[in-house]
Amino acid sequence: MNVHGQHYRTIWLKPGDPTVVQIIDQRRLPFEFAIEELTTVADVALAIKEMHVRGAGLIGATAGYGMYLAALHAPRTALTAFQAAVAADAARLKATRPTAVNLAWAVDRQLAAMAAAGEEIDARIAAAARTAQEIADEDAAFCRSIGEHGVTLIEEIARRKHGAPVNVLTHCNAGWLAFVDYGTATAPIYTAHDRGIAVHVWVDETRPRNQGARLTAWELGQHGVPHTVIVDNAGGHLMQHGLVDLVIVGSDRTTYTGDVANKIGTYLKALAAHDNGVPFYVALPSSTIDWEMRDGLAEIPIEERDATEVRIMDGRSSDGIREILIMPESSRAANYAFDVTPARLVSGLITERGVCAASEAGVFSLYPEKRR
Ligand code: MRU
Repeated sequence: MNVHGQHYRTIWLKPGDPTVVQIIDQRRLPFEFAIEELTTVADVALAIKEMHVRGAGLIGATAGYGMYLAALHAPRTALTAFQAAVAADAARLKATRPTAVNLAWAVDRQLAAMAAAGEEIDARIAAAARTAQEIADEDAAFCRSIGEHGVTLIEEIARRKHGAPVNVLTHCNAGWLAFVDYGTATAPIYTAHDRGIAVHVWVDETRPRNQGARLTAWELGQHGVPHTVIVDNAGGHLMQHGLVDLVIVGSDRTTYTGDVANKIGTYLKALAAHDNGVPFYVALPSSTIDWEMRDGLAEIPIEERDATEVRIMDGRSSDGIREILIMPESSRAANYAFDVTPARLVSGLITERGVCAASEAGVFSLYPEKRR
């Protein structure tokens, strides 16, 4: 994706120094485009936990690079010491955030790759470096394919509307900032825009951290896609008045039966879409599918973050970035970060292999090798 005309991914190894991982510090967007350097597993764990990086795919890619740093800095005195240090770092990374399944998936993929590399420590480090790069490249390639498959939905609506702008509503940020490149929910939108299809995006602000207002609006703007930021509660009203043609959201964990965990508030959008006959699609790479989980509502762990994120907002004022308290000092706040939308409310899943029904049969029709 281009920023001020230059191509960036959201994570990469520092040119000339492959012991340093570079990321975009997303806490500072849209006001400042800042690059941060991560050199230790502690840096990586903090960056994930405190959301310098966030979004399912990028959390996975960052954990992949984190495991590479773990291997790089593990003791080389004996294989057992090396393995013990890497295992402790794996546990530390897995504990940073609970909902996005890509995190554990990437850590486990790294552990398997290192184990398969044999008894030589150097070979294990090389495998970790290779696998981190593979995870990142695969994420970008999958998102690109999601764009190719998802754009057909937008094209069909554009044909019906005789070229009038297709209005897509999205929630949170499942854009390129949430992945390594392209994004998932935004990939069909970028593909449509690049093909000359008129598209306009309603961007939910997405309290409490405002990933929609801060990140999705910023990246759509960088790509030149027309968009409007709305408050989180506006979507239902817009759907009642025929102002939304299609909802596309991302996912942090999808069960193999099609239940979808995504940023808090997604479920309410799905209910409104269902009530108003608006198609509600979820775009996700297969790394976001949990092949062990059947019942999303009962089984997906929902992250509860610090209530400070609800109590205090930050933004730019005339004298710089400021934090303000937005509620009574003495009131309690709760911060549930995700919710689960049941498969029955999902019109379809847009994956790197195509679009399928949000059901066990639909998911396995695209991924038959995962059936056990
Ligand atoms: O808490 P975040 O910002 O890491 O949440 C992830 C998200 O941005 C959303 O839930 C998104 O829609 C899916 S992640 C690709």
